[in-house]
Amino acid sequence: MIEAGILGTGSYLPDVVVTNQDMSGIVETSDEWITTRTGISERRLSSGEPTWFMGAVAARRAIAASGVDPKSIGLVLATTGTPDYFFPSLACIVQAEVGADDAFAFDVGAACSGFVYAYDIASKYIASGAVKYVLIVSAENISKLTNYADRSTCILFGDGAGAVVVGPGRGGVHSSYLRSDGKGGDVLVCRALPISHPFLDGTGRNPEGWDSGFQDRFPDLDDNYIRMDGQEVYKFAVRAVVESTQAVCAEAGIAVSEVDHFVMHQANMRILEAAARRLGVGMDRFVVHIGEMGNASSASIPICLDNMARDGRMKPGDKAVLAGFGAGLTYGAMLVTL
Ligand code: COA
Repeated sequence: MIEAGILGTGSYLPDVVVTNQDMSGIVETSDEWITTRTGISERRLSSGEPTWFMGAVAARRAIAASGVDPKSIGLVLATTGTPDYFFPSLACIVQAEVGADDAFAFDVGAACSGFVYAYDIASKYIASGAVKYVLIVSAENISKLTNYADRSTCILFGDGAGAVVVGPGRGGVHSSYLRSDGKGGDVLVCRALPISHPFLDGTGRNPEGWDSGFQDRFPDLDDNYIRMDGQEVYKFAVRAVVESTQAVCAEAGIAVSEVDHFVMHQANMRILEAAARRLGVGMDRFVVHIGEMGNASSASIPICLDNMARDGRMKPGDKAVLAGFGAGLTYGAMLVTL
């Protein structure tokens, strides 16, 4: 076991609560449709808080809960698909905010799987002896990329942040399993800024063109909003969390039935229920907060961990599988002792 246990957690959710009823005021939908298909009743949306602010509050709370001196944090990892700045990175902004002055800091770009990817990186830096403590902060203002005229996506997402400090002294990591499927990435896409400069003549020199191929699925991909093939993402998500969970359990020699908590990316209640059925475990072992926060992308798993810490489920010695999936496509899981 790598001694990279969860020493402290923190989270931040904006105050603005948007109910399904509120959603039905802006797009043609209903509380019944949304709850039946997704399990979501309400979500939190930023009232202007930038991503770095939410991340810094969550990070300060996690550091306080861990009792670790910020100056002994050797690495700050941040995950976000919705930063405030192209640079500096979210990790560097949070580093300055929390006073982790002896750390190096960088962002991990793995969409909704970001937290699991970052935790895996953290555990490997700790195992190598290069650093002792790592701060992981996941913060998202996914509302910035949401088209509130598109009922098939706008009802799903919410904003928020979660953070953990990992290191020696409590629990640790038994196994991890990370995978990406870049060839399947066209089912969940959000475009960044286009190329634009005064010398752009549009002639190009590449006979193949520069089309990513994403336009084949989404011909109208010309703004900065989320495009999603919901059914394809749904199928991928269930397959991904089941495969990753089974893989980490097999590698650690621990039966899936021995895992106390399944802390999975909160995208859709139906995905969690389908995963539970396929894994043969009861929903009582799943941590579920999708109903009140929607899909907060990479922040969803650390927010769940913080909720567990606050409601007493973060019991030392318990085993938990953390499993994420998202755009990329990216997915993966970690088996940890809390
Ligand atoms: N309210 C009412 N009707 C809606 C709606 C809404 N908010 N959104 C879509 N619909 C309609 C569609 O227009 C469609 O109508 P049509 O049959 O007349 O064309 C119908 O409902 C069915 O749409 P469909 O997309 O097949 O629904 P679905 O059962 O697949 O549910 C999702 C849609 C998005 C809830 C579901 O596919 C999903 O959760 N996928 C995974 C998404 C995800 O997790 N993404 C993040 C990954 S990190």
